[in-house]
Formats: sequence, structure tokens, C-alpha cells
Amino acid sequence: MRYSPDRPLNLAPATILDYRELARRRLPRQLFDYYDGGAYEERTMRANVGDLADVLLRQIVLRDVSVREQATEVLGQPLAFPVVLAPVGLAGMAAKRAEVQAARAAERAGVPFIESTVSICAVEEVARETTHAPWFQLYVMRDRGYAEDLMARARAVGSPVLVLTIDLAVVGARHRDVRNAMGGRPSRWAKLRRGLDLVSHPRWVRDVGLGGKPLTFGNLEQAVPGASSPSAFREWVDAQFDPSVTWEDIAWVREHWHGKLVVKGVLDPEDARRAVDAGVDGLVVSNHGGRQLDSVPSTVRALPEIAAAVGDELEVLVDGGVRSGLDVVKMLALGARAALVGRAWAWAVAGAGEAGVRHMLASLRADIDVALGLTGRTSIAELDESALLRPTTTADT
Ligand SMILES: Cc1cc2nc3c(=O)[nH]c(=O)nc-3n(C[C@H](O)[C@H](O)[C@H](O)COP(=O)(O)O)c2cc1C
Repeated sequence: MRYSPDRPLNLAPATILDYRELARRRLPRQLFDYYDGGAYEERTMRANVGDLADVLLRQIVLRDVSVREQATEVLGQPLAFPVVLAPVGLAGMAAKRAEVQAARAAERAGVPFIESTVSICAVEEVARETTHAPWFQLYVMRDRGYAEDLMARARAVGSPVLVLTIDLAVVGARHRDVRNAMGGRPSRWAKLRRGLDLVSHPRWVRDVGLGGKPLTFGNLEQAVPGASSPSAFREWVDAQFDPSVTWEDIAWVREHWHGKLVVKGVLDPEDARRAVDAGVDGLVVSNHGGRQLDSVPSTVRALPEIAAAVGDELEVLVDGGVRSGLDVVKMLALGARAALVGRAWAWAVAGAGEAGVRHMLASLRADIDVALGLTGRTSIAELDESALLRPTTTADT
């Protein structure tokens, strides 16, 4: 359902899109657009959601479904249900110490939280505030020393899984951010408009802008010189992220990381085979939530071929467009072991903090439970393409 100002919320958020609406109301426009938006015309971003919506579940009735099991294991970690909080850069601008709030919510729900390289809260802070260290997402910078240092820090706090993001060799254009003067050198007029946008959200200014110290990049304090604004940060990303990384560099990562290793950003079966050859433990079928190359396939469309290409040689995770537990069930039926959610938690933490993320996760779990029961399954292990009305989504349309 789409929301508009003449369609106000009722009393309590029920869905992930309700949290999106809450986030839209609470965040300065420039920040809401940063979390919400995608690259270029946002076709891939919309396709992630639209193609998932087109996958139909098969309703199977009169089976004994009195026991329904969602617990699983991913990369050696126990999960209460097959969902992981995806790395979201600059999440700490959505709410005060947002990474800590989300990591706590994830821990209470029994699922992993992935700390982004470009988080506001340092990996040490997140680890200190939780019992189980977060998984750590790594971007490789031109100065490999930073990456080695980050891996050492993640290892030191006990992160069990390193998620190496490989789809940011160059950065896709995000027109919303450009329109909001979030990149380059904004004119004085643009700066003034941005300032007005901030001050017209006094609650955000009080809770996050002043109270949350949102402009320090906890994992990159030494690396980002004067990380004082999103535009300075964007410039730094463009200059520092290393486009020369290849599959050969997986061996270098392995020298510095002895835990589980996952590559995030695979969208093609040939690349999936290269991931197998490189010896990683898992991959995430991802197009970065439609924030990188527009007009590439949705992840739900890419998933079945990739899952078939790698078989059980490594673990396949997926993200992109997951907005309910029914979407998670569809992803599992198409070959994923678990699904990551990105915007869902960014909206929930912006809209209602830790309690929002807890509620969002609880509703994903409740949705999965219902979908299992009404597809005649007693556990997520029983999910395969026979849980769907048609084996693939758009291939035959
Ligand atoms: C605001 C935002 C920031 C993101 N930052 C990162 C990041 O720092 N590292 C990364 O690997 N992926 C990042 N991603 C991509 C997510 O990890 C994930 O792939 C994507 O959000 C999944 O799509 P969904 O938002 O539709 O769930 C980001 C996504 C969003 C929306």
C-alpha cells in the first residue's frame, strides 16, 4: 500500500512500509532520500520490490502444521529465523547511535547485525553494547593498510563473519542525493536550503544532530580527514575506494581474516562460480539495494540461477526489496539460506529506534510463520520451489 499525506497512519505501525512513512516524517528530507533512494532512474530498486511481489506462493492446506520451525544456521552461526540486518552506511544519522540500537534489537531477536565500514558507531562500540560481536562489512580502500587495520579491529572484537562488499568498484549516481546537494561542492544557496531542511526537523536536531554525534565515522576516524559532512564523505569515497580489487585479492583478505568470509554483490552465475573458485564461504546475491548499476536484474530474478550454479559449494544469501516475511519465504524457496534487510531496519530505527527494529524483526518472524503454515510446511528447511506457484518470477513474462 502506498502512503500519502492524505492517507495518514492510524495508531500503530504494522508493516515495514509504515516505518518508512514514520521515517519520512521524522528525518530531514536529505537524509530520508539518502536511505530511501537508489541509483539513476531507480529501475532496479523498484524491480527488487516489484519482482518479489510477482512471485506467488502456493497455498497448501490440511497438512499438520502445528509445529513450525524457523531456526537455522548460517555460516556456522545460529539464527532464530532466516534474516540478517544488512550493512547500512551512515545509519547513525537516522537515529541516535542507530547501529547500537539495531544491533541490540537484532541480538534480542536472535539474528545477526552487520556493521558497515562506514558506520557512525565504531565496531568496538557496537561490540561493547551487545553480547555477540557483529558481523563486519568491509570496503577495500586504495590504501590497503586501512582494510588490514579494519579486519584486525573486527577480529579483535570477535566478529565471526567478514562480509566483503564487491559491487562498489565505482559509485552509481544517486540523483536524489545530487538534487539534495549531498555530493560535490554545494552552493551557498544549497547549503542554506540543507540547513533549513535540518532545522525544520527540531526533534532530529535534538536527538540525533546534537545528541548522537552523527558526523564521526567510528571505523574510519583516522582515514576520513575532517569527516564533517555527507558531501565531504562522498568525495572521500570516490577518491579512496579501490576499483582495482579482483578475485585474486581474496587470497590477501584470507591472509588477514581467518573467520568466515562472504562476498556481497554477486548478480551473475559466472561470478558466483568465481566466488566458489576463490574459496569464500558464502555470497550475497545483491545489487546494493538498487543503489549502484541501474537496469541490472532484480535479486529475486538473479537468485535461482546463482543458487543452481553454486549448489551446496557455498552458502547463498540474498538481499534487495525484502519488505515482509513472505518475501523472505520466497527468497528461501528460490535457493537462499537467509535474506538480508537494509532499508527495512534503517526506516524502523529512524521511525521508532530500537523498539522499532525489534518490532520490525518480530513481524518478519510472524509473517514467516504464517507463510510456512499456509504453504503446508513445518520448517524453513522444507522450502523449495514447490512452495511457489511458478518456479521463477519474470523469466516467462
Ligand atoms: C542507505 C543505505 C546504505 C547502505 N550502505 C551499505 C554499506 O555501507 N555497505 C554495504 O555493503 N551495503 C550497503 N548498503 C546496501 C545494503 O547492505 C543492502 O544490500 C540493501 O539495502 C538491500 O536492499 P533493501 O534496502 O531493499 O533491503 C546500503 C543500503 C542503503 C539503503
